[in-house]
Formats: sequence, C-alpha cells, structure tokens
Amino acid sequence: MADSIFRPDVVIVGSGVAGLTTALNLAPRKVCIITKSTLGVNTSSMWAQGGIAAAVGINDSVKSHIEDTVATAKGLADENVIVKVVNEAKNIINDLESFGVNFDKNDDGSFDLGLEAAHSNKRIVRSKGDSSGIEIMRGLIEKVLNSNNITILENVSIDSIMSENNTIHGVIGRLAQDNIPDNHVIIECSNVVLATGGLGGIFANTTNPRSSYGEGIALAAQAGAVLTDMEFIQFHPTGLDFGLDPTPLATEAIRGDGAYLVNQNEERFMLGVHPENELAPRDLVAQNLFKQIEQGNSVFLDCRKVSNEFETKYPQVASYCQAAGLDPKIDLLPILPVAHYHIGGVKTDLEGKTSIEGLWCCGEVAATGIHGANRLASNSLLESMVFGRIVAKNINSLPIKRVSKINPDFIRMYKEKTKNRIRAKKYIWQLRSSMMRNIGIVRNHSSIVRGLHDILKIERESKGLSAKLNDMILVSKFIIIGAYLRKESRGCHLRSDYKNTEDNFILHFDLKFSDLDSKITEILNLTYNANHKQVVN
Ligand code: SIN
Repeated sequence: MADSIFRPDVVIVGSGVAGLTTALNLAPRKVCIITKSTLGVNTSSMWAQGGIAAAVGINDSVKSHIEDTVATAKGLADENVIVKVVNEAKNIINDLESFGVNFDKNDDGSFDLGLEAAHSNKRIVRSKGDSSGIEIMRGLIEKVLNSNNITILENVSIDSIMSENNTIHGVIGRLAQDNIPDNHVIIECSNVVLATGGLGGIFANTTNPRSSYGEGIALAAQAGAVLTDMEFIQFHPTGLDFGLDPTPLATEAIRGDGAYLVNQNEERFMLGVHPENELAPRDLVAQNLFKQIEQGNSVFLDCRKVSNEFETKYPQVASYCQAAGLDPKIDLLPILPVAHYHIGGVKTDLEGKTSIEGLWCCGEVAATGIHGANRLASNSLLESMVFGRIVAKNINSLPIKRVSKINPDFIRMYKEKTKNRIRAKKYIWQLRSSMMRNIGIVRNHSSIVRGLHDILKIERESKGLSAKLNDMILVSKFIIIGAYLRKESRGCHLRSDYKNTEDNFILHFDLKFSDLDSKITEILNLTYNANHKQVVN
C-alpha cells in the first residue's frame, strides 16, 4: 500500500484536552491531530472525574490556590510555573463556558464547587458531579470538529519522530487497526506537539486508559529530548477494587463530601495521621492505605454518610458500583491504590519548548515543573489547557518553516523500525506486575535493582519485536534510574531505605536516551560490588 503523506504547519500527537486546546489556539495555521483511536476516545482527559481547580469561590483567592500547590509539591515545584498556570484558571473556565461547556451551578448561579485533598477551600469546578472530563471533552471536540484548519487522523499510531541534528522533520506512523507494516502515514512538518498523556499503563494497577503507557516519552527520548523527574508517579488512593483493568476511580471529591477510609474493622486509619485526615495530601493517603494492605488489612471507602443524592452527584462511580453489585449507601467499597498520574516526563520550559528545536509538549507527557514531587488534585486539566494555549501562541509567533524534501533513505530507516511486530501480552503483564511490585508506592534499593533485572530480562527475551513493549521497557528504565538516583523520600517518591526528605535532593534528575546504558551499568556494578564485598567479608 502507498504511504499517506501530509504536510501541515503543525502536527499534534494526542487528542486529550492538551492536544485539542493547542489545536484550537493554532488557527488559522493548518494543524493535523493524530490519535490512536477515535478523537478523544481512550484519553485520560475523557476519564477525568475531578474537574478544574480554580479559585472562584467567595472566600477563595488565587493566592491560596498558589500556596496550596506550592505546599503540596514538597519543595520541588517551579513557582513561576505555578503562578503562571493558577493565574489563568478563571480565564480557562470562561473560555470553556463560551464553548458551551456546562459546569455544575447552585441556584444563585455560582459554581457548585467540590473539595479535594490538600485544597484549603472548595475549589473544584466540575460537571455532572464526577463527569467533568466527558463534558469538557464534549465541548472541545465539538469546537475542533467545526474548525476548518484542523485535520484529524484517527487510528494512527506514531512510531517515530523524524529528526536530524536536533531538528524536527515530522513524524512517521501507521494505521493502528491494520497492523500492516507498509501502511505508513508520514507527516512532514517542522513543529511537532506531543500531547500523548501519561504512563499509568506500565503499572499493573492503574486508572489510566490502556493506551497510556508512556509512548510520548519514548518518542521524545528516542529523538534525543531531555526527560526529568521520571521517578515521580502519583498513586491515587481510591481505585475501586472490582477486579477490572484499568481500575475505575472513585473521585477524591467523595471524600470531600464526607466519605471515610476504613479497614475491615471499620477503623478510620487516617485519623491522627494528618490534621485533614482523609483529605490529607494524596501521597500521604496512598502511602497509609498501602501500609494497611501490607499489614494484612483490607481497605474500603465508606460512603454511607455521603448525601442521599449519590447517584446524581457521582453517576460514574454509581454505575461502576451497580455493575459490581454494590450499593454505596449500604456497602463498603473495596479500594486499592493505583498509578494515576505521572509528574515527570519530557522537560519543558515556561514556553512549552523541549530541548529539541521544533518539539513541544503539553499535558501529562510534559514535565513543566508545576507539580514538584506531588500534584495537587485537579490542577492537571488546568495545566494542560494553559500550556496548550502557551504552546500554540509560541508556534504562532514563529514563521512557518517548510521541511525540505526528506531523503527517502531516511524514511526507509524509520520504516524498518516498524517491522516485525508481535503481540507481547505475556511480557507486557510481566513488566506491569514487576513495576507495580518493585517501583510502586514504596521503593528501596533491593526492589529497584530487582525491577531493573526484570526489565532487562523482558527486553532480552522479547527481542525488541513489539513496539508497544519496547516503549514500555524504555520508559520503565528511565523511571527505575530516577527512583535509584533519588536517595530520599519526597512527595510521591517513598523509599523505605531513605525515609527522610533531604535538602541536598532539592534538585531534578535530567536524563537522556544517551545516558541509559551508563546509568544501568552503574547500578548493576554498584550492586554487584556491594554483594561481592559482603560475601568476601
Ligand atoms: C479525582 O477525582 O480524585 C482525581 C482528580 C485528579 O487526579 O486531579
């Protein structure tokens, strides 16, 4: 089959809120949005239950929102980014309303705000209770479909960013459905925006869609981009343990509405751990929940004291419960902590630029520095939209640069990479369970080294034949190296062998593809030498 070739001004990979916002703000530039599925489907944005944090309540202030974000980030956030993003929250809400997005309102027309962990005020602007993502995406998709500058390529998986000498030439992929190696889609373009979402799918338990396995990070890393903060994975305490993969979420807002966390003896194990009890920062709640599980306890969300309108306020959660045969007004809901959000990613500056000319990132794939070591709930849709606008504004300020004709050998080299795909379910499961066990909520030197050995074994045995698995292996290695280097506990990175938060780790670990081999060798050698010394002694 002949290649399909496109030459837009800008290509955006990903169709969550970050990608769609960028596309809308790029008009009249010709934009191509690439999505692996149908537009917006299987994106974390669509699944978002929480909403958008914005200081629109009467007793609230932007200052307080900034302070909460800074406090939650545990010393590692870039305050310039926080100020930039939080200051835009009201504008983002206004924009969305102008597109026809409906937010929940009280009778007097004010926002019916939700309360989530570590926010000192009710601040979550939401839609139909726990259906914010669906409603926001509905509004954005409608607007995108009515924009004549945007072409949408559905069911296309991107295999590589084509780049040479730190300059972008475009992307190359294929029609995802067909899996025919020669069915290539080539986008020649000097500006590539990655808005591919997160990587929860590399952990056995996650709220993320199956397609979120760090593909954007792998693409950027292979093109030579700098990654940062890869060790910071945020685990959400209340995944609903109904035996499903991905795990359905029970939004934190339910705890804001009076639900408790209890064990099988109905003991509220968060009492006394933090002044806010169940609404303590998410890292602390997830870690204490995990401790209960380690002690052999079962953990539950007790919604029995939450308002009678549970079904209307939390329709998504209510429908999961109904399918599982549980009634939140009567039954305790079994829960487990789940990989929910990746704080690290492709390093970007205040303009959304990566270390490669022409490569931009926004949304979860980007590490802008706003979240530090722990993300404040419902700050991420906000960050995605603010940076979507920033990236678009910056690209619009540049002259359109056409890519000169790409050398066919160059394209052939990229095509070679897409051959010989295999289904790799067994290895993918091995990787996911190893990452959850070894690099999950609590890590230590032994678990990190064990995780590394597992990944290297999977890499050897799978012989590089599955593109998805290759991406998962690559991204896992970066997380493992980050987790190894950070010899302290901070925010959502908890090491049982380095329990304290240390001043000399108020820094970020920047990593590149070219660092991988030497870092892995360093870890393996150090471990070998330590073991050898023990034996000799
Ligand atoms: C939630 O609804 O609990 C999740 C919100 C978020 O992760 O920002």
